[in-house]
Amino acid sequence: MNADVSHAAVSPAAPARKPRHIAIVMDGNGRWAQARHRPRTIGHRAGARAVNACIDACLDDGIEVLTLFAFSSENWRRPKEEVGALMQLFLRALDREVDELLRRGVRVRFVGERAAFAPELRSRMARAEELTRGNTRLHLCIAANYGGRWDIAQAARALALRAAAGDIDPARIDEHMLAPQIALSDLPDADLFIRTGGERRISNFLLWQLAYCELYFTDILWPDFDAAALRAAIADFAGRERRFGMTAAQIAAGATP
Ligand code: IPE
Ligand code: IPE
Ligand code: MG
Repeated sequence: MNADVSHAAVSPAAPARKPRHIAIVMDGNGRWAQARHRPRTIGHRAGARAVNACIDACLDDGIEVLTLFAFSSENWRRPKEEVGALMQLFLRALDREVDELLRRGVRVRFVGERAAFAPELRSRMARAEELTRGNTRLHLCIAANYGGRWDIAQAARALALRAAAGDIDPARIDEHMLAPQIALSDLPDADLFIRTGGERRISNFLLWQLAYCELYFTDILWPDFDAAALRAAIADFAGRERRFGMTAAQIAAGATP
């Protein structure tokens, strides 16, 4: 796979093969707080600081897209107080960070079913997207009330509506027709998936998009995840051989999918 060759020149210290799009399940905030005998909310606050450090590291390393799992469609099942505290944290973080993101060239986008959020949060989300839409240095996608199954279902619905309207022939629906309806399809594919916090599961994050993503799991709890930890994941990625169904010999001969 040589799709990343164009990035080799970004920095002399950069690994030869660099992910273009990193997707992270930011897990372990609760356990981080618990280890300090503090309420879980403190862990979420510390997690918000780690987000900033991660964005900085991505900017420094020339990563094009960073997708962060902030709130899953299943996280509504948490105690009401924790969900409320998370919503407050999102609201405050948006108010506090948007100007800085704008200044640093970050384009912000939200993915997920946003109808479930309070109107004031939805308007902050729309404002952050609007303000930063001209930025190109780093595309930051925040997955909020996102579920991989929701994503596939909404894509199927979009095609079903087009079929019902007579725009497309349902018998001709294939993965190439579905793919553009899936979230983030206009961006480079997620090529490095990171989950912090020690669990080795996807928890309904990107499902379709992870088909050929390299998976990386670390025991580091999200609030402790820093630039060095991100670089360790990127270095691990650089050592992977991505074959996309082909043989190692084909890859060595320069074949690309
Ligand atoms: C991830 O950390 C943050 C969210 C899901 C919002 P957790 O809150 O899941 O932390 P643990 O897994 O309980 O330690
Ligand atoms: C996944 O973490 C969701 C986010 C990080 C936002 P969870 O902590 O909710 O996942 P499970 O419940 O352990 O699978
Ligand atoms: Mg968790």
